[in-house]
Amino acid sequence: MNRGLPHLQPYPFERLERLLAGSRPKSTAPAISLGMGEPRDPTPVFIRQALTEHAHLMNRYPATAGTNALREAVAGWLARRYRLPTGTIDPGSQILPVNGTREALFALAQTIISGRRAAIAMPNPFYQIYEGAALLTGAEPIQILADPVNGMPDLDAVRSESVWNRIQIFYLTTPANPTGGIADREYFRRLLELSERYGFIVAADECYADIYPDGGEPPPGLIQACLESGRSGLENCIAFHSLSKRSSAPGLRSGFVVGDTGLIHAFLRYRTYQGCAMPLHVQEASRTAWTDDAHAAIARSAYTERLQAVIGILDDVLEETTMPHGGFYLWPRTPIPDTEFARGLWEEEHVMVLPGRFLSRGRDGVDPGANRIRMALVQDLETCVEAAQRIKRFVQASC
Ligand SMILES: Cc1ncc(COP(=O)(O)O)c(C=O)c1O
Repeated sequence: MNRGLPHLQPYPFERLERLLAGSRPKSTAPAISLGMGEPRDPTPVFIRQALTEHAHLMNRYPATAGTNALREAVAGWLARRYRLPTGTIDPGSQILPVNGTREALFALAQTIISGRRAAIAMPNPFYQIYEGAALLTGAEPIQILADPVNGMPDLDAVRSESVWNRIQIFYLTTPANPTGGIADREYFRRLLELSERYGFIVAADECYADIYPDGGEPPPGLIQACLESGRSGLENCIAFHSLSKRSSAPGLRSGFVVGDTGLIHAFLRYRTYQGCAMPLHVQEASRTAWTDDAHAAIARSAYTERLQAVIGILDDVLEETTMPHGGFYLWPRTPIPDTEFARGLWEEEHVMVLPGRFLSRGRDGVDPGANRIRMALVQDLETCVEAAQRIKRFVQASC
């Protein structure tokens, strides 16, 4: 058996289920879940139609590299989203379709990690797949405390040269789940310099790239940062994108990676054996989705409206209930321990949130998830407002 398996941590939602097991909500109001970051808005009709219109393609094996049409649609989105001159990204050698970012984030580690003392850097708090990817390759997961100001792993927190030398992949989430922080140009500049110095791969999970405050500046991305710093070959860099959040299509299982030609080539080779080609009808639906920005703008403004409404209700009762720079999460402080808060809120008000420590790791007495909760504003506006009012009542009555 893989030696990393016993070290895999229970997934945050398993822990939440256990935390709430046996508790009896006193409230008879319908349950509201702000626990899971799963978009609940319907997937736009034109994407669903494209899927069914191409269902006849199910009788064909898809190629792992994807169709030219899909890769070109993705290159078009990248050029629009990151204001890249057309033709900067080569769809033939720098883009690959993946079945959602989760499997690809995991698979990248299997493709890259080699040697006995390898390490993988990741944020803290974080998306737990990075840790699992490290453990199952035998690499050491190194959680780097997020900087409280920008929510990104604090690059000054790793002081030891020997640790930097062991890092083979640096996972980054921007916009970040759960902190809502983003990597700005200066952050990317420093990270790219470190990558060059120590030879690690920068793997930017940008699955929330299209969710940011309506009317605001779109968060910068890794590919843009590479090009702006003269790394025209995207050397040692790979970014992960998804339709799950921007197109409210988590069940489509569709995303892509873009990066260094050599890396993409190696990843394609690995994936051909892994057998994770994207079905042709999913590719067609994805092509349609990446070609259209209007539906993503509608989703963005809906999330902004929900965030503003909830912040308006909670900012005087929960500290740091602030507008995220990207993503649809709030990450406020709680006046009592996070697990106690989540359980109490469920029992008293029938509202589900995720305790911060289920998304973080404590080290040397510091746990960035302690006394925080994550709220995913994936429900419609009315439900989010109702949840916020119940949370406020809970804080006023019980904390
Ligand atoms: C930070 C982060 N990365 C990746 C994913 C996985 O998304 P996908 O549906 O693209 O696999 C999620 C899902 O919630 C996430 O929060």
